[in-house]
Amino acid sequence: MHQDDKKTQVAECALEFIETRQVLGVGSGSTVNIFIGMLDKIRTKIEACVSSSNASTKLLKENNFKVVDLKEVGKIPIYVDGADEANKSLQLIKGGGGALTREKIISNNSEKFICIIDDSKMVSQLGKFPLPIEVIPMAQSAVALEMIKLGGRPVLRENFTTDNGNIILDVHNLKINEPIEIEQEINNLAGVVTNGLFAIKPANKLLVADGNSVKEL
Ligand code: A5P
Repeated sequence: MHQDDKKTQVAECALEFIETRQVLGVGSGSTVNIFIGMLDKIRTKIEACVSSSNASTKLLKENNFKVVDLKEVGKIPIYVDGADEANKSLQLIKGGGGALTREKIISNNSEKFICIIDDSKMVSQLGKFPLPIEVIPMAQSAVALEMIKLGGRPVLRENFTTDNGNIILDVHNLKINEPIEIEQEINNLAGVVTNGLFAIKPANKLLVADGNSVKEL
């Protein structure tokens, strides 16, 4: 089965988790774009959406959904988003699309984070996918040096500015043996806005499409 068909399969499955009329947290990326395209099927259950990126906001509005700011609603019952890598502990690497900061803010303020992926994203150890880090521009070299000290190879994402006006360093070759500790350590560096590890607060549910079925972890 083609990867896009798996994305469609897992996006469709996520619809079942939205039970009552509520505010829905919506992530970013190609899997979520497919999910947004399906939301019409459960329109009556969606009071409004909180969006994790300008791109998702645009798509939601084009599909005639009301988009509200997180600060207007406080805690969100359900957040649906994709990931670039996931392990069996439901810890993730996110940020391939550069929306990691708003994604982490929404995740941290959601009762249930449902992560939707295809089976190519499942790994035994996180880190093959370069870890995205959103950095305040003036701290680029300082943070890059710290990443080299940690054994990584930081690469500036060319011609890219986040929705918050910052840069992204994609860090290759990091050995992520202890995801929670590394997430904390990188967060503590001056100039780091967010890193793409979602280990301190992993997903609550992982839906994985393998072409035949959608497995629930
Ligand atoms: C966006 O910044 C990311 O965190 C996405 O959730 C992640 O990159 C998954 O995207 P795809 O669904 O396009 O693979």
